Amino acid sequence: MKSQLIRNFSIIAHVDHGKSTLADRLLEETGSLSDREMKNQVLDSMDIERERGITIKAQTASMRYRHTDNEYLLNLIDTPGHVDFNYEVSRSLAACEGALVVIDSSQGVEAQTIANVELAMEHNLALIPVINKIDLPNADVDKVREEIEDELAIDSSEAILVSAKTGVGIKELLEAIIARIDAPTADNSSARLQALIFDSWFDPFLGAISLVRLAAGSLQRGQRILMMSSAKTFEIQKVGVLTPKPIEVERLSCGEVGYVCAAIKNITDTRVGDTITDAKAPSDKPLPGFAKAVQMVFGGIFPIDVNDYQLLSESLEKLQLNDSSITVEKVSSSALGLGFRVGFLGLLHLEIVQERLEREYNLALIFSAPSVLYRVILKDNSVQMIENPASLPDPVRIEMIEEPYVSVFIHTPETYLGALIRCLNERRGIQIDLQYSKKERYRMHYEMPMSEMIFNFHDRLKSLSRGYASMDYKIIDYRPGDLVKLDTLVNGQVVDALSCIIHRQNAAARGRMVCKKLKEALPRQMFKIPIQAAIGTKVLARETISALRKDVTAKCYGGDITRKRKLLEKQKEGKKKLKMIGKVEIPQNAFLDILKLDDN
Ligand code: GTP
Repeated sequence: MKSQLIRNFSIIAHVDHGKSTLADRLLEETGSLSDREMKNQVLDSMDIERERGITIKAQTASMRYRHTDNEYLLNLIDTPGHVDFNYEVSRSLAACEGALVVIDSSQGVEAQTIANVELAMEHNLALIPVINKIDLPNADVDKVREEIEDELAIDSSEAILVSAKTGVGIKELLEAIIARIDAPTADNSSARLQALIFDSWFDPFLGAISLVRLAAGSLQRGQRILMMSSAKTFEIQKVGVLTPKPIEVERLSCGEVGYVCAAIKNITDTRVGDTITDAKAPSDKPLPGFAKAVQMVFGGIFPIDVNDYQLLSESLEKLQLNDSSITVEKVSSSALGLGFRVGFLGLLHLEIVQERLEREYNLALIFSAPSVLYRVILKDNSVQMIENPASLPDPVRIEMIEEPYVSVFIHTPETYLGALIRCLNERRGIQIDLQYSKKERYRMHYEMPMSEMIFNFHDRLKSLSRGYASMDYKIIDYRPGDLVKLDTLVNGQVVDALSCIIHRQNAAARGRMVCKKLKEALPRQMFKIPIQAAIGTKVLARETISALRKDVTAKCYGGDITRKRKLLEKQKEGKKKLKMIGKVEIPQNAFLDILKLDDN
């Protein structure tokens, strides 16, 4: 197809502002799917995405639309909205010439709208503001127009009013896409091939599949291609477009967006951000912006039943096929047994992986508290990157520990400002800026340690502001901190699964909390058990469980023997799941209770 008739665009929005619903309406209006195929939110195909209503992986659809005697090809490149996936958003935007900025007319501009618009401006995209949900009774279009001008610096008279629910304004929007978004640059299909990979996934039959946007040259079956970051070559078996169902085509040419199958067995060979070129006549340089996704949050995953270890190992392998952004390493814990240390892009990513493992693979798991990646500078000037508290070197060898900091933007109505400032102060936040942005809303800019953010900061923010505040963050740098390793000891033995790296000022409070919880969770035994929280040999908190034999049958007076037997059996069952820490038996549930502590 002539490149003048192609439009490549994406939709950017704050979570829940209606991006997927709008995509559905566009597909419907262009007749891209039959009614039967049209189920709500076609683009969010993973179960979890659909249930939680969030878009995780970028997905794409090509639509055909007739306008003034010409048939246009509109390539919608869906982007994930959440901060954890900023890297993918950025890659997806690199494949577009324009973006629709969707704003919920009852909510207005939010932190992620701004963050995503800034990203889009960095890529020089044409932006079309779309005010959505105008069917809602509390829609306030004028207020949103003002916010578009003030906070996004976009002319609001260009905004298109739509209801993705009822379909109002969709036709006008399609016209605007054609009129206001540039076609891909002039046809240079004879130039050397450069195709940007902006998404990839694994198909059990076809191998790793890449979604690409062609910046120059063309792609077809039988062609030998070269991955520019790894220098590996493959032969193309199929090229096609997604409508969003896959349809094979003869060739993909310059400006187009489509998929490539080349019997690639390993998804790491189709890295998002890499450039594909022709192996016989390669381009001399890749397209700009290849960077690896960085794992920022780490957590231990252990099977509750040791027999599930193999299954967990296989499940993680399968998961990695489709999500190359997780890292997996084997670990062994004296408290929790054999398991894995897994690296994630952020907290939401961690939650999604946990949920997929439990749901899709039907595994009962224990997750240790998440941790960030610390930079440990030793006295001999060597540097170690450490995320597992258990691998922290002896404190006498450590010169300094540095931790990652994030820059956080929060948007909030005035009413909740005080509570949020207090919460940020408690979490070692440093105020950089506080702006009043009309209509009783504030824009807060803080810098804070990432470790303080991974413990439920987002939920806290939502509860303090009754859901009205929104946030966005990015990692900025590493800074030295007064960080220590806090251990928990049961009967004098360190329980490795409960160790954490923490700021000295928070250590005592956390120590007290862990000891208290552990006291509640541990069954009494025949002897006295001290529980301590300590930094090195310095004890910060202590609880004691007194010796007492717990007689579970005491409650069963009289001769109800079956009930007695049932209770005893239950007790036996429970014992099977006990872990021995020194002489003390700890039920798995105790770990679950403590690790949940961070949710409080
Ligand atoms: P993420 O994928 O999480 O970023 O969300 P999204 O932006 O894709 O939002 P989604 O399309 O899932 O819509 C969020 C909610 O708003 C859903 O419950 C939709 O039904 C609803 N919604 C979307 N558009 C409209 C609209 O025009 N009017 C009304 N009343 N509701 C809408």
